[in-house]
Amino acid sequence: MEYDIFPRIRERRLRKNQKIRDLVAEVSLNKNNLVQPLFIYPGENGMEEIRSMPGVCRMTIDRSLKFIGEGLASGINAYLLFGIPSHKDELGTEAYDEEGIIPKAVRTIKKEYPDAVIITDVCMCEYTSHGHCGIVVNGKVDNDVTLSYLAKTAVVYAKAGADIVAPSSMMDGQVKAIRDALDESNFKDTIIMSYSSKFASSLYGPFREAADSKPQFGDRKSYQMDYRSARTALREIELDIKEGADIVMVKPAMFYMDIITKAKEKFLVPLAVYSVSGEYSMIKAAAKNGWIDEDQVLWEYMLSLKRAGADIIITYYAKHLAEYLR
Ligand code: PBG
Ligand code: ZN
Repeated sequence: MEYDIFPRIRERRLRKNQKIRDLVAEVSLNKNNLVQPLFIYPGENGMEEIRSMPGVCRMTIDRSLKFIGEGLASGINAYLLFGIPSHKDELGTEAYDEEGIIPKAVRTIKKEYPDAVIITDVCMCEYTSHGHCGIVVNGKVDNDVTLSYLAKTAVVYAKAGADIVAPSSMMDGQVKAIRDALDESNFKDTIIMSYSSKFASSLYGPFREAADSKPQFGDRKSYQMDYRSARTALREIELDIKEGADIVMVKPAMFYMDIITKAKEKFLVPLAVYSVSGEYSMIKAAAKNGWIDEDQVLWEYMLSLKRAGADIIITYYAKHLAEYLR
């Protein structure tokens, strides 16, 4: 009689101690899946902390070599490069100039570390005077005019030695335009990691400070996605795969875990997620105030991304995590 009040199935058995919990854990974090973003600017021996991202610096090419050397030693193999040009103009000329900041950085880094996986962001916003992700015609970001500029940019980066190009401007047809151009120039093995599902998010604020890429008029809502809809993200990913994307991405990651899970269920290509600048800043700010435990929160967040379905995680904490994992 009494017995009936005791449960037979006890979920707590599998939580008994750390070793048992480890035995049944569904996900883990592997350094091989982490990508470290880097902001590179012209000059020598320069390193500036980004005000809204304590612990993250923009740096010159020579200083990036040191940073990447240390990163490789701690097990971070992949780096996503963003350039801050010496000069901005209407057509974002420095994006696709072979002597521009990114091609120079890629050549220098690849010479020193041929095995580092170098990914280059392909977008116009860091290079245009108006700060938009495409070419502006009659006050509007013109989709089809922009495509040839993105394609040209990707080819220049591939030629410099980038392993992966990552188009992030959210122009329709950008993956196809880039794949065609790469193939024509005989860069058939250059990988495309598309920012397929990129939402118009307020979490990019600190990045825009870091890259000095705030739009000078209007906003990005006519090309980045509206966060009220999930299915548009799935359509974007489907299109990018059809156009030839090798890896697709969901961005931001925090607040968008439903998209990550749906994309993982629906598509079979590797899925990257971008834990963006604002996510970093929020965690860092709370940690600096002593309100949360930075490493514990970070660990919980990273494993939650894996559980949601992320294969690759792009995070400003990559190098920090590698040191923590050791
Ligand atoms: C360029 C680009 C942006 C980010 C990555 N690539 C900025 C933007 O779209 O405004 C944001 C990354 C971050 O916030 O960490 N289009
Ligand atoms: Zn952009």
